[in-house]
Amino acid sequence: MSGYTPELKELIKRVETTRAQRVEKAKKGEHFPALTMRQREEWLRKYHPDYKEEGRRAVRVGPNRGEVFPEEVSSLLESRSRIDPGGFDLSRVDYETDVLVIGGGGAGTASALTAQEQGLSVLISTKLRHGDSNTVMAEGGIQAADQEGDSPYYHYIDVIGGGHFTNQPELVAALTNDAPLIIHWLEDLGVCFDKFPDGRMKVRHGGGTCRKRMHSAGDMTGAEIMRVLRDEARNRPGIKVLEFSPAVEIILDTDGNARGAVLYNLETKEYYTVKAKAVIIATGGFGRLHIQGFPTTNHYGATADGIVMAYRAGVRLKDMDSTQYHPTGAVYPEQNVGLLITEKVRGLGAQLLNIDGEEFCFPLEPRDVESSCIIRECLDVGKGIVTPVGRVGVWLDSPMIDLLHGEGTVRKELPAKYIQFKRYDIDISKEPMLVYPTLHYQNGGLMIDEWSQTDVPGLFSAGEVSGGVHGRNRLMGNSLLDVLVFGRRAGIRASEYAKRCKSNARLTLRHVEEFHRELEREGIESPHHGPMLLPDYTPDHVRERRTSLGGEL
Ligand code: FUM
Repeated sequence: MSGYTPELKELIKRVETTRAQRVEKAKKGEHFPALTMRQREEWLRKYHPDYKEEGRRAVRVGPNRGEVFPEEVSSLLESRSRIDPGGFDLSRVDYETDVLVIGGGGAGTASALTAQEQGLSVLISTKLRHGDSNTVMAEGGIQAADQEGDSPYYHYIDVIGGGHFTNQPELVAALTNDAPLIIHWLEDLGVCFDKFPDGRMKVRHGGGTCRKRMHSAGDMTGAEIMRVLRDEARNRPGIKVLEFSPAVEIILDTDGNARGAVLYNLETKEYYTVKAKAVIIATGGFGRLHIQGFPTTNHYGATADGIVMAYRAGVRLKDMDSTQYHPTGAVYPEQNVGLLITEKVRGLGAQLLNIDGEEFCFPLEPRDVESSCIIRECLDVGKGIVTPVGRVGVWLDSPMIDLLHGEGTVRKELPAKYIQFKRYDIDISKEPMLVYPTLHYQNGGLMIDEWSQTDVPGLFSAGEVSGGVHGRNRLMGNSLLDVLVFGRRAGIRASEYAKRCKSNARLTLRHVEEFHRELEREGIESPHHGPMLLPDYTPDHVRERRTSLGGEL
């Protein structure tokens, strides 16, 4: 019994025909040659979606006015507030705290723990449940140069090279220098990493790494880390969590410092005011904007909310035109479309193959290059495999893993992936997966310094919502690291800031009023209100029917 159609099963035979020989070569360490630097640049320009002219335009307002971003981003940045900033009553304060953390994923929770350790009261406001985030969905691992023969120096070089030298060096230095400390901290809190029986860490390569430094917990590394962070936060006095309560605007004071936020309760549909001495934005990325029409690996709440709020408050953006497409998103079965197939699958030796069962690229190129290779093979060379509904992809030959490392390795190392396909009668230890690039990560974001400080005093930012760390391409395993390094740094600096804060200046939303005036001056009549909060997947015909009925169905 197999979930593949007879036509696809027929094509899998070609993969099986070449498998034994490919495994033998892989055992000898022979692999498809990596692209030269020149070829990499050429293929990126030709095939990577970031280089397409269509679907992009200049944003017309705000600190980055005139810069070209994906249409979805520009349009969201030009949206109007969900509240009436002139009429909103800020004299009623519903919650008061030392540090307000907006976002309950890895970065937000790490920053809350760190601020609490400095003796401050912390309020976490989160849009969905505490922990619903891209952190919990991260699969393959977290990088840290803590093994013999490695050093933060090599890690630094890999990150800068992977980012095509567009990263902010001081952020990369912070990321790579703090990494060993982060692994220590996580272990102390109770995170269970994969280890050998003698207690040594199991570490692997990711794309673009010169040393094995990927620490993992099966293929559920993010879930394991989030489990522990959330548990810790929920059990510490001094940390309060408001779920289903996304922030919709940052509140400043009349001196221009960040002093809180307006929250929206998704259940009661009421607005609340939080007053704080320092604010940390950790709202994650923008996968649910489906840039260039791509499916996404991201969680339901990844709608760029922090970017929209902070932009109105005056924070500049960096590299918001740069999107990461993970090379291996599922394209079959339909129920799995867009699902992340962790890079760990290729780290364990699985190869990418075309319709003839032939290799066409080195499987561990940096992600943007690897994605370009797959797009080229499908759209230019014409050797992709077409699914029954007309999607196109290439094979990821996961059965090689058991042949290389022993029977049972797939089930042991990739338990989540095994189940996600077994549900549809595909046994990935015996049959390959069909994959194509999927929207995975927001490379750019809010500008910060190495201590997570944004352009606005008292406003800090950590994790995917920030830009500059990874430049225009992030390497695997540096996202979990980023949320923890900059989450902790934001927690430390926000606490220091909050302890110094003596301001009695009045709270205000004047910056939002001014932003509205700028929209009007530019003649922008945006039909959208932002932040988006939740993506809308209503089909057009249902939307039209709803409108014709005058509102709700
Ligand atoms: O491939 C992966 O497991 C994804 C990891 C990451 O984006 O860091």
